[in-house]
Amino acid sequence: MILTICYLIGSVTFILGLKMLSNPATARKGNLVAAAGMTIAIIGTIFLYTDEAGNKLHNYGWIFGGIAIGAIIGTLAAKKVKMTAMPEMVSMFNGMGGACAALISVVEFNHLAFSVTPGWHTILYPPEMIGHVLIIILGLIIGSVSFAGSMIAWGKLNGSVKDFSFKGQHIVNILLLLVILGLAVYLVGWMPANSQLIFYVIFALSLLYGVFFVFPIGGADMPVVISLLNSFTGVAAACGGFLYDNKVMLTGGILVGAAGTLLTILMCKAMNRSLLNVLIGSFGGSAKTGGPAGAKQQGAYKEISLSDTAVVMSYANKVMIVPGYGLAVAQAQHACHELEKLLAEKGVEVKYAIHPVAGRMPGHMNVLLAEADVSYEKLLEMEHANEEFPTTDVVLILGANDVVNPAAKTDPASPIYGMPILDVELAKTVIVNKRSMKPGYAGIENDLFFRPKTSMLFGDAKKVLQDLIGEIKNL
Ligand code: TAP
Repeated sequence: MILTICYLIGSVTFILGLKMLSNPATARKGNLVAAAGMTIAIIGTIFLYTDEAGNKLHNYGWIFGGIAIGAIIGTLAAKKVKMTAMPEMVSMFNGMGGACAALISVVEFNHLAFSVTPGWHTILYPPEMIGHVLIIILGLIIGSVSFAGSMIAWGKLNGSVKDFSFKGQHIVNILLLLVILGLAVYLVGWMPANSQLIFYVIFALSLLYGVFFVFPIGGADMPVVISLLNSFTGVAAACGGFLYDNKVMLTGGILVGAAGTLLTILMCKAMNRSLLNVLIGSFGGSAKTGGPAGAKQQGAYKEISLSDTAVVMSYANKVMIVPGYGLAVAQAQHACHELEKLLAEKGVEVKYAIHPVAGRMPGHMNVLLAEADVSYEKLLEMEHANEEFPTTDVVLILGANDVVNPAAKTDPASPIYGMPILDVELAKTVIVNKRSMKPGYAGIENDLFFRPKTSMLFGDAKKVLQDLIGEIKNL
């Protein structure tokens, strides 16, 4: 009874925590609330759980030893991680969740009744156990794919694994998946001889599939893939919840599975790409500059000097800053906040326009600017920013490209056609800071840079912002 209450508290705090995570002001608290719920559920399980025969958990040395080692590694990793390496860490932690789910399946499979024959054993189970065995196999497949895929994603993000694909890889992947599913059906439905061997073959092939699944996907698409793998881990953990009839594990797994799936869908939607397009990696690939948008002849662009930029911005009523991936690369968030404060002192109203997929991970710009203590009230979501552009004097684009590309609205042949963008052109003046005329993530030219209202301010974002601050101070 007390254990059930612990699980209820755990489940409710997960849901509350998740809800609080959706708002930057309450996110930190939400994380703590959910973690407190998880602690209650874990402690309750360790001390109150009894099996059908009335046995309590033992092996406390192993349990608390594991918890202590995990807690130390987790705390150190979370404290040391740089903001830019966050997706890497999420991928690593997610992979560990997948591995746990797969290992639960291995342990539970070996708890089934076997015919005792030399070599590989054959499982024997009554027909009513078929659901149980099915869940074991599902947890094994999904957990293994999630573990192996997350490890490759982790390697890709930190540069130790390069993109790798060969002709016909997608066909090989589909065949591999079909073999795994075929073996799983054979094992569960037919109870064949040597079923233990078949189980481990499924395990090995699932790990291989996880590797092959992520290998060909472009490095910059990793956040979408990590989110997808995260939802896989959630489903695999929910399988564990079924096996142990553990409500909190089931709730937690389902929540992770659902949240990961929703995030994957939202990211794809904000980029106007289908999940299939992300998975077969046709975006930002070799055809990126060869398409109609890339091949189009552009006119001339005009440049603006630092001193002119300083004057234009200092005498504006309202300035909107559009941060993008380049701001993160340059680590220019602190300089950006300093510029904002300097302009505010001069009576200029300064806000930030945040596109949902600016940068390379969900909430990248929010996290980056929060690191520099930029107030959340100054961050406008895309829809609100678009409403405010007509009353904006100067838009300063810092290392953003695709998210302000008008081709998304005007060029049906463009790979980003249909992606919602920031309508910066509605403002009076647009100043674009980047280092060159090179394209961004989508690999396509940006007509905005050649439009009459736009001026280019070339250079590394951090250096440009520092020099700009100096110029404004000297005015
Ligand atoms: P991008 O389109 O990638 O453009 C970034 C620009 O920053 C580049 O054109 C680059 O130009 C410039 N840059 C790079 N380093 C710089 C530096 N040190 N100083 C100044 N500028 C620098 O970025 P975006 O507009 O933020 O768009 C994000 C893209 O990523 C979208 O296409 C989105 O779909 C994709 N994506 C996003 C996510 C998420 S969840 N956020 C996930 C996967 C993919 P130069 O080289 O000329 O400097």
